[in-house]
Amino acid sequence: MIQSQKNALIVGASRGLGLGLVETFLARGWHVTATQRSSSPDLARLDAKTLRVETADIDDAASVAALHDRLADQRFDLIFVVAGVATQAHDPVHAVPRDVAAQVYLTNAVSPIRFVEAFLDRLAPGGSLALMSSILGSVSLNETGCWETYRASKAALNTLARSFEIRHRAESVSVLILHPGWVRTDMGGAEADIDVATSVAGLADVITARLGQPGAHYLDYRGATLPW
Ligand SMILES: NC(=O)c1ccc[n+]([C@@H]2O[C@H](COP(=O)([O-])OP(=O)(O)OC[C@H]3O[C@@H](n4cnc5c(N)ncnc54)[C@H](OP(=O)(O)O)[C@@H]3O)[C@@H](O)[C@H]2O)c1
Repeated sequence: MIQSQKNALIVGASRGLGLGLVETFLARGWHVTATQRSSSPDLARLDAKTLRVETADIDDAASVAALHDRLADQRFDLIFVVAGVATQAHDPVHAVPRDVAAQVYLTNAVSPIRFVEAFLDRLAPGGSLALMSSILGSVSLNETGCWETYRASKAALNTLARSFEIRHRAESVSVLILHPGWVRTDMGGAEADIDVATSVAGLADVITARLGQPGAHYLDYRGATLPW
C-alpha cells in the first residue's frame, strides 16, 4: 500500500449499501477492508487487489475483538459501521416481542458505538468515524410515525454517537452520522426513492468533504445537515 492511498474499513458490507460503498471507495482508489458476517458471494466477486475481506458480527464481542487483533497493523482514514437491521419494522412497538425490540436496539445503536469505541485506536490522524443512521432517527422530523422500533434505535444511535463524540472531544474525534436516502436494497425495498449507486456516490462525496472534521455531524447523502 502506498503512503498516500486512503484506507477504509467498511463494516457490514455483504450486500446493499455496505457493498456499494466498498465498490465506490475501491473505484476512487482507496484501499478497503470490508467485513461480512458470513461468506458473501457479492464481495468475493469484487476481486480487487486493494480489497481485504474480513468476517465479523458486530453483536459478538469476541468476534469484534478478534477482528481488532487481526487489523493491529492497520490505520484507517475511515471506519464506517454500516450494519443494521429493521426486524418487524412495520409493527407498532407494543406488537414487537421484547427480545426482538431489544435486538434491534443492540444491533443498530449499542453495537456500532461499541465497535467505534474499540477501533478508535485504529483511526489514522485526520480520519473520521462514520455511523449509518437514518432520517428516521430524527426525533424532530417524526411527523408520520411508523417504523417505531427502527426509528427509536436510530434515534438512540444518534444520541450515543453525540455522547461518544463529547467523551472524546479532547481528542478532536470526527464522527459522521449519515442518512443514505431511501434506497432500493433488501431493507429499503423496491419502492424506495434512489438506487444504491446514487446513495453511495453521495455518501462518499460527503465523507471526503468532511474527512477529519471534528465534532458530531448528522448529514444526509447530499451533504445537508439534518435536525436531531
Ligand atoms: N436502505 C435504506 O433505504 C436505508 C435508509 C436509511 C438507513 N439505512 C441504513 O443503512 C444500513 C445498510 O442498510 P441496507 O439498506 O444496505 O440494508 P441490507 O441490504 O439489509 O444490509 C444490511 C447489512 O447489515 C449487515 N448486518 C446486519 N446485522 C449485522 C451484524 N450483527 N453484524 C455485522 N453485519 C450485520 C448485513 O449482513 P448479512 O448479509 O450477514 O445479514 C448486511 O450486510 C443500515 O444501517 C440501515 O439501517 C438504510
